[in-house]
Amino acid sequence: MKQASECIDSRQRTGQHWNDMHSEALGSMSFLRRVAGSLESMLSETSQVFILTDENVAPFWLPEVAHWLHCDSTNEIVIKAGEQYKNLQTVQRIWKTLMKHHADRNALLINLGGGTITDLGGFAASTYKRGIKFINVPTTLLAMVDAAIGGKTGIDFGGAKNQIGTFAEAEDVMINPVFLETLPPREIHSGLAEMLKYGFIADANLLNVNLKNYQQHIDRCGEIKRDIVAKDPTEKGLRKILNFGHTLGHAIESYCLTTDHPLLHGEAVALGMVGALWLSVKQCCLNEKVLKDYEAKLPMLLSEAEISLSEADIEPILGYLVHDKKNKGENPQFVLLEAVGRPVWDVLVDYDTVKRSLEFIITNEYGKR
Ligand SMILES: NC(=O)c1ccc[n+]([C@@H]2O[C@H](COP(=O)([O-])OP(=O)(O)OC[C@H]3O[C@@H](n4cnc5c(N)ncnc54)[C@H](O)[C@@H]3O)[C@@H](O)[C@H]2O)c1
Ligand SMILES: [Zn+2]
Repeated sequence: MKQASECIDSRQRTGQHWNDMHSEALGSMSFLRRVAGSLESMLSETSQVFILTDENVAPFWLPEVAHWLHCDSTNEIVIKAGEQYKNLQTVQRIWKTLMKHHADRNALLINLGGGTITDLGGFAASTYKRGIKFINVPTTLLAMVDAAIGGKTGIDFGGAKNQIGTFAEAEDVMINPVFLETLPPREIHSGLAEMLKYGFIADANLLNVNLKNYQQHIDRCGEIKRDIVAKDPTEKGLRKILNFGHTLGHAIESYCLTTDHPLLHGEAVALGMVGALWLSVKQCCLNEKVLKDYEAKLPMLLSEAEISLSEADIEPILGYLVHDKKNKGENPQFVLLEAVGRPVWDVLVDYDTVKRSLEFIITNEYGKR
């Protein structure tokens, strides 16, 4: 495998071909903010435009997006795909590329990709020369409904996720479901789990999201996230509800990464939400029907995942809860539900009960093949 240092390729665009059909579809891009006026005026105010993307997204979308921007020239930075490259080494390469091209404070970075790219690019941009503007163009479902929105940027460090980062808002987030045409189905399922999360915490309509109708609900999810973030930008309280399903989800995700069956983030969150709903029934009087209805959706959500968890995995998963940076004291803290749309946060749950929630998830064999 190549090192990140070899995988950054910055070059002036030389006029590659583009796909007209996609160009037309890109024209219907919807903008979340437009605070700084139209894209054209924003581009006219920038000294240089850089596009950051990864090796999977680039062949499909880089020429289209570069063409759609109508810029005289753009500098492209293509990095290796994957969470393992969301690190300081890659950020340094991005900074060096910006410097090599004499990017000044009026340069603009366009982050074209999934959450890995929007996190990494947002961090690189928000720190280069004390901050240059950046725009997120999410190309995964998860990034469209979550990662690209809300101003959290970051990289992994010291073996732990998202340890170094900034709060920095993108100038704009451009959402266009056309990018999902090339996204592998497993990634779509992973994004669907995050969409259902918004259903639980904020809008029961979103609990009807499925593989046929999800594109109609992307904007609504973004709207919910932006509303929550606007009320609590730095996660002092309310913003924590976005972590519904994530306390157990992160522990399961981290543990599975050490096995031969790693899970995607959304798949782990899908399982984490089973535990959170089970705990909500036990501790917050949530109607058990909410849990049962959700369980009926799991075969669909996890149809692409390979899950092989057994009772023996419970203790090691519990071990990861201790390292969760959001858990302050001895017992883990959860976001639970009193009802759909009525989340409560900072709920302390004792380890024995947490363990029983994991047993509930695992003995039900969701998604096992
Ligand atoms: N900042 C936040 O608020 C926030 C919130 C949630 C998640 N995140 C972060 O987001 C990251 C996960 O994001 P993700 O799930 O989007 O994963 P990702 O960015 O790693 O993308 C998943 C895979 O899909 C490929 N891909 C992306 N778009 C594609 C397309 N249109 N066609 C074909 N392939 C495509 C990528 O190359 C990659 O291999 C994690 O690092 C997580 O920490 C951040
Ligand atoms: Zn998530």
